[in-house]
Amino acid sequence: MQQKVLIVDDDAGIRDTLSDLVRLLGYSTSTAENGLKAMELFDDGPYLCVFTDIMMPKMTGLELIKEVKARDVSTPVVVITGYASVEMAIDAMKYGASDFISKPFKMKQIEFILKKVEREKKLLQENKRFSEELTLHRLIDHLSGQLEKSVEEISTLHAISDKITRLKGIKDLVNTMVDVAGEILDTADVCFYLLDGATGKFIDLDSGNIAELNRGIMEGNIVRDRVPGSFDGQDLEILFPLMIEDRLFGALRVVSSNGIDSSKEAKLSYLLQRIVERMENVVLYEGLYENILSTLDSMAKILDARDPHTSRHSTRVTELSMRIGKALGLSDEDLDVLKVSASLHDIGKVGVPDKILLKKGKLTVEEMNIIKKHPDIGFDILSSIIPMKKDAEIIRHHHERYDGKGYPMGLKGEDIPFLSRIITLADAFDAMTSDRPYRKALPYSVALQEIKRCRGTQFDPGIVDMFIRKVITPKI
Ligand SMILES: [Fe+2]
Repeated sequence: MQQKVLIVDDDAGIRDTLSDLVRLLGYSTSTAENGLKAMELFDDGPYLCVFTDIMMPKMTGLELIKEVKARDVSTPVVVITGYASVEMAIDAMKYGASDFISKPFKMKQIEFILKKVEREKKLLQENKRFSEELTLHRLIDHLSGQLEKSVEEISTLHAISDKITRLKGIKDLVNTMVDVAGEILDTADVCFYLLDGATGKFIDLDSGNIAELNRGIMEGNIVRDRVPGSFDGQDLEILFPLMIEDRLFGALRVVSSNGIDSSKEAKLSYLLQRIVERMENVVLYEGLYENILSTLDSMAKILDARDPHTSRHSTRVTELSMRIGKALGLSDEDLDVLKVSASLHDIGKVGVPDKILLKKGKLTVEEMNIIKKHPDIGFDILSSIIPMKKDAEIIRHHHERYDGKGYPMGLKGEDIPFLSRIITLADAFDAMTSDRPYRKALPYSVALQEIKRCRGTQFDPGIVDMFIRKVITPKI
């Protein structure tokens, strides 16, 4: 069945041109001249995705994105635009847009975007199916109390499935694949091979060697074979194909001398499928996350560039925060969050006008109040992005004080997120030791005295102690 695409634009010319191009690519289309008409059509869906203009009468494109997402979060929305401004990127991201398409339209670009949203939608639906499947399995667990053996089996599958969904990197997933196969089939002879698409050869990732695998695997089926030269020819080799979207990307080779029963083989096949699905998600998620990070990073750079006196401030605060974090023995996971939060800590200043941000003289109370909004603005920008909720919270509190006299919420002591307290110290130290329009940089020793003076009032005393002992003193 042809997939349907909904195209919304108040300009009939643009609507028809885009609709013709999308149809040429093999999709069917519906068109609407405004958001209200589009929502009526949306209810007759399902649609693969929605293309929408931003400036439209009756309902803006951003409002339409919100409406679409409220009805079906798995329908991607692509924004039609003449140019992509930073402001619009932030707005569209907040509302959940997946991508942009710019005018004039190019066939290649439309094709690329449609393929991308198709995959995005499929993965979202697969995720949903997988979680439903798990819920079903849990229900089965509950009902089949007497069938101890099968309950045990399912529980093992769950435990491993749960573990798989928590794994983050491709390397972890490959290692798990090898471990799980070794455990289920009770052998240590397991190896993962990656198929080099260009040469059609299989490569052992650990050694970099090319492996001569049975070419039957290219058909995408499990291949069983005797291992030539093994003792009595008894060793059995099984190759499991690893596929994403019907395309082979690798193989898992397992050798066993004990024979392999079919139920174990089926169990392993099921788990390999789960791992491969997770790999797909990781690749997609990492891709999206990287995109978001690079957009935000560009915004931070634009921000630094607005004010020559604070240029590279974000970079230095990040470096210093990381040194403090490492001295405090933070976990790798916390260090990752600290790195992103520190580099974006002042991202909310995009919402502060130049005439206030770059003002040379003393700021009025009203101007100061506008500047004080930047932690909340930063929070609003980042909290709309699901993978960045934690960072958003940390950024919101980087101007709190340990004695509760900071802003925006006046949090006190341990109530302030720990990573925010680290950034507060790094931020203040860097501000003191760099030139400002109204004063020259202070020497390190003077800045250090000031940090000591504010130990327990502005700053967390424990972090100050570690900063003095392990981070800054060795450098003076
Ligand atoms: Fe700040």
